[in-house]
Amino acid sequence: MQKVTGKVRYGVVGGGSISQGAFMPGVGQTDNSQITALVTGDPEKASELAELYQIKAYAYEDFGTLLSSGEVDAVYIATPNFRHREFVVPALEAGIHVLLEKPMATNEADCKAMIEAAQRSGAKLMIAYRLHCEPGTLDMVERVHAGNFGDPRLFTSTFTQRVKPSNHRAQSGFDAGPVPDMGPYPLNMVRQLFNAEPVEVSAIGVHTPGSAINTWDTVTVSLRFPDERLAQFTVSYTLPDSERFQLLGTEGEIEASPCFGYGEGVAISYRAIVEGETRVHVNPVVDQFAGETAYFSDCILNDEAPEPDGEEGWRDVRVVAAIERALETGQPQKLEPLPARPAARRAAQRRAFALAEVPPMIGTESPTQ
Ligand SMILES: NC(=O)c1ccc[n+]([C@@H]2O[C@H](COP(=O)([O-])OP(=O)(O)OC[C@H]3O[C@@H](n4cnc5c(N)ncnc54)[C@H](OP(=O)(O)O)[C@@H]3O)[C@@H](O)[C@H]2O)c1
Repeated sequence: MQKVTGKVRYGVVGGGSISQGAFMPGVGQTDNSQITALVTGDPEKASELAELYQIKAYAYEDFGTLLSSGEVDAVYIATPNFRHREFVVPALEAGIHVLLEKPMATNEADCKAMIEAAQRSGAKLMIAYRLHCEPGTLDMVERVHAGNFGDPRLFTSTFTQRVKPSNHRAQSGFDAGPVPDMGPYPLNMVRQLFNAEPVEVSAIGVHTPGSAINTWDTVTVSLRFPDERLAQFTVSYTLPDSERFQLLGTEGEIEASPCFGYGEGVAISYRAIVEGETRVHVNPVVDQFAGETAYFSDCILNDEAPEPDGEEGWRDVRVVAAIERALETGQPQKLEPLPARPAARRAAQRRAFALAEVPPMIGTESPTQ
């Protein structure tokens, strides 16, 4: 693999709402990354986005040509969840680094294939958990790990939005539904805060009357962690926008909201209550996509392993798979106990950039109502 110098050159795969509405503008805020190509199935996006960003456009069938073109050092994959592996594995095998949107995949076998491809080639694979590079979130996680709230024992969370019936998320069954799409936010958060892995999962899902979503549109998940800790979260595609979590420790609590979103006006915030005293922490709005991209580019430039790696992505996907089994069977599902991941955070993950201006989207729209 060639050593990368100067700005890391990214190819964007999939010109949907997250690429156009967050990633592509965000890269322009960084000092170490640039976009040089777009892979899209839409000729209108190909010509208009190529013009707007002064980049080359490729069709999906020409992905292999892009990988061997020498025009990209890395790719950002933002296709629907079921179309991740087909781009990630060839890219890694070609020695191209990959920043992959969450959820890593719709099944554990795909995660394994991607992790093995990265191990074989040495190309880096990072899952785009933008909150791992959001300074306010990192502060919260570090305070919990430092014991500021005693022993963290109970996590509860709600994350809801109304998905348009026209979006592919509404018509592609469980794999595009609220559990794999929104579940990784509370799930990844509680795994980080507890610094532990769940050992048992149960779930209840409903089909809200009148909903056009062709899977459980609202799902409540309960998780048992080692040492008899509990977590519960609800995700929904049919309720108004809401995002919050509460973490109760033996000596205090955190109430965070907003805690999962990004963009204009979204300042990650929390109330910390310790010994009866409440303090409100409102963090500056940052460009979370710039932050995560700058961090990944630093990893590429300095030849360091990114922290939210394939293993981190798989650990969420295995729980999502257990939630699906719990929904289908109505039975709690055991999970194999796993050791905690290293909790240390790096200064490199705290890079804050001002929010980018987002140009009008071309040929795509927000998935939510
Ligand atoms: N990190 C975050 O905050 C965040 C937020 C939202 C989404 N995501 C993740 O990012 C990925 C994309 O989400 P999105 O919201 O951008 O979705 P989206 O708006 O529906 O866009 C997905 C894009 O993928 C391309 N595509 C290729 N094959 C497709 C197919 N069979 N059906 C539909 N689209 C297809 C299309 O781009 P072309 O027309 O250019 O081919 C489409 O516009 C998902 O994995 C999602 O979970 C992450």
